[in-house]
Amino acid sequence: MRENIVFSEQAKELAAKAREIAEKHVRPNAAKYDKLQQYNYDAAKAVAEAGLFKTFIPKQYGGHGAGILALAMVTEELAKADSGFGVAFAVNALGSFPIILGGTEEQKQKWLPQIARGEKFVAFCLSEKFAGSDASGLAVTAEEDGDHYVIRGEKKWTTNGGVADIYSVFCVTDPTSKSRRISAIVVEKGTPGFSVKKVEDKMGIRTVPVVETHFDNVRVPKFNLIGGRPGMGFTHAMQTLDCARPGVAAQAVGAAQGALDLALVYASRRRQFDAPISSFQMVQKMLADMAMKTEAARWLVYATAAAVDAGRKDTTKMAAMSKCFATDTAMEVATDAVQIFGGYGFMEDYPIAKCFRDAKILQIYEGTNQVQRMVIARNLVKEVSELSHLVPYIPGEVQQTYKNGGTISAENQGQPAVAAKA
Ligand code: CAA
Repeated sequence: MRENIVFSEQAKELAAKAREIAEKHVRPNAAKYDKLQQYNYDAAKAVAEAGLFKTFIPKQYGGHGAGILALAMVTEELAKADSGFGVAFAVNALGSFPIILGGTEEQKQKWLPQIARGEKFVAFCLSEKFAGSDASGLAVTAEEDGDHYVIRGEKKWTTNGGVADIYSVFCVTDPTSKSRRISAIVVEKGTPGFSVKKVEDKMGIRTVPVVETHFDNVRVPKFNLIGGRPGMGFTHAMQTLDCARPGVAAQAVGAAQGALDLALVYASRRRQFDAPISSFQMVQKMLADMAMKTEAARWLVYATAAAVDAGRKDTTKMAAMSKCFATDTAMEVATDAVQIFGGYGFMEDYPIAKCFRDAKILQIYEGTNQVQRMVIARNLVKEVSELSHLVPYIPGEVQQTYKNGGTISAENQGQPAVAAKA
């Protein structure tokens, strides 16, 4: 995949605004909200006023239509100051993508302009207690009742739950179907029977709420069925994740850069043996590796985002690669950053401990990194037929005819016969 990575003026401006907000509203309050486990409404208001929620909303619905690359750049800047706030922003895109990608015109007209203006926040309800990686094994049901669906069950790990006004909820609408079992339905805050129950007490990303959402006979009009056609939910979920994973990967790049910046400053000023520790080769190796991996992750994310923006349909593998690589990088960089801070890094006195706690979830949510590797490998295997001619003979294969008319078999071991006929 070789797309041009074009940083539009608009994307650069949006990223610059995000950096400004991050330094003014996010970083100074990150430790406080982390301790209190509270959402930073002040920063979210600044993000809305700066028009940053418009980044991922198409132009015809009041957004900038700036694309996934711009979304990645904005998310990276916010996450650099506080990874939790990075996801608090990016999850609005995750929750909006089912509507953007699969919604009817009327649904887009109804919900997207409110999201673009930052008047309504969004959440994505896919995971359940017994359906995490196995996203098709959902138990929450939506039963037809006249002009309505009635939703019953519980969702787990709803990021932004309670703060959000609009929830994209994945429900079983046809338990008898294998491939068309699931549909995505919008549930709005305040709908009777919908409630936020358990607010999770988390190790990291404590500045964004993660909750259980409960649906106790929640009646929603059929209008809220995303796309107006039941059975499209799993496809909508997977397409959404293809667009959203570069966003979480960008959050990871921001998190890694944030940890690296702190470690670099600390290493340059912390003195041992009469010298700054940044002058010691072993510390230099760590800093160099941290910087290299962060930069490599950044460009993989940008390349993936550019490919999605270019309208390529086969971005699943790259989205999984960028999510997996960038989030593994964030964990490694945060771990090494704590090491550079030494004993002080283990204490909550410095912001680096928070970076370390915040990093772990990146390898788990929006598809564990084990799932990402499975997706990557499945796609590699699908693509293998294009390369088949590279290895003419595999032990156990009987005979195969090649494009050039040559044959291979156990007797000729492939190479000579093919070469002779070519
Ligand atoms: N785009 C479109 N369609 C796709 C697709 C894609 N990327 N991937 C799969 N599909 C389609 C397949 O073509 C297939 O269609 P048919 O039935 O018509 O043939 C169907 O979906 C089923 O595909 P699979 O057989 O590949 O499905 P599977 O059950 O074997 O596994 C999986 C798929 C990759 C494991 C998937 O379940 C998955 O991604 N799991 C992880 C879930 C996840 O990421 N959860 C994160 C929740 S959100 C979150 O964490 C965010 C947060 O809080 C911030």
